[in-house]
Amino acid sequence: MHPASANPNVVNPNVVNPNKALWEKGDFTEIAAFMRQSGESVVQSLGITPSLRVLDLGCGDGTTAIPLARLGAEVVGIDIARNLVEAGNRRAAEAGLTRLKFQEGDACNLEGVADKSFDLTISIFGAMFAPKPFDVAKEMVRVTKPGGRIVMGNWIPNDPTFVSQILKISSAFTPPPPEGFVSPMTWGVESNIIERFGQAGVPKENISMLKDTYYFASPDKSATQLTELLENFYGPTMNAVEAAQKNGKAGELHAQLVELGNAQNKSKDAGTLIPATFMRVTVSL
Ligand SMILES: C[S@@+](CC[C@H](N)C(=O)[O-])C[C@H]1O[C@@H](n2cnc3c(N)ncnc32)[C@H](O)[C@@H]1O
Repeated sequence: MHPASANPNVVNPNVVNPNKALWEKGDFTEIAAFMRQSGESVVQSLGITPSLRVLDLGCGDGTTAIPLARLGAEVVGIDIARNLVEAGNRRAAEAGLTRLKFQEGDACNLEGVADKSFDLTISIFGAMFAPKPFDVAKEMVRVTKPGGRIVMGNWIPNDPTFVSQILKISSAFTPPPPEGFVSPMTWGVESNIIERFGQAGVPKENISMLKDTYYFASPDKSATQLTELLENFYGPTMNAVEAAQKNGKAGELHAQLVELGNAQNKSKDAGTLIPATFMRVTVSL
């Protein structure tokens, strides 16, 4: 056996990483445009001061990393999708934020990131999508300073609100995942959160979990437009659309998604205001 093939951390450029491919397939910026307001609210609730070093894991194009840096923190955004890292660095440059940098990396293995280097590690609907949740918890604990915090936002399985239902509808139209696949939604279950951080050495008394609400908002784009953006730019929904097209069910999928979006839209005008419940996890180290 070639020595490189025995080491799981050596990246072989010829092997497709399905987790990376999923997020590079679309353009999450199109969806994140609806998430900026709640991203800012989450950041405002964190008591950020300029002395803090913050890691934003699965940061996308900076929904939370940019407001964190605007409050003066030194921020590193890590994301598996190259296109989103590029978009993040463009947005940081446009905003003149010099203490913010985006780089490519995998939440399952933050090699190159030193132990105990961040006061706060935040991951809002990011690290939950990495395929090895126990490794993710271990890495988040490793890179956070003792006395620091980890804050995660995770979608909740079988929740009746928007994102959980989008993912549920999408998965009903997608072929079953490979054996051993751990659903990202398992990060929304308290016992899993306790077990994963427990294996990383965190006692359960140091973990707080509460349900919170995130809003998908736009002043001028409708819920139907958001649904169509999900179909065209959001990896998990794009995969469902592709699979549905192959067996003539794309119309059915589209109708279900549009119905969901409109049923959950609370906007009183032409725009969108869709609430979505998530699990807010705070780990004190
Ligand atoms: C739903 S988006 C959320 C992005 C951002 N946190 C936000 O709130 O706009 C999920 C993000 O997680 C990233 N991601 C998925 N798997 C990852 C992994 N293994 N390591 C790092 N980032 C990952 C995706 O590329 C994507 O940007």
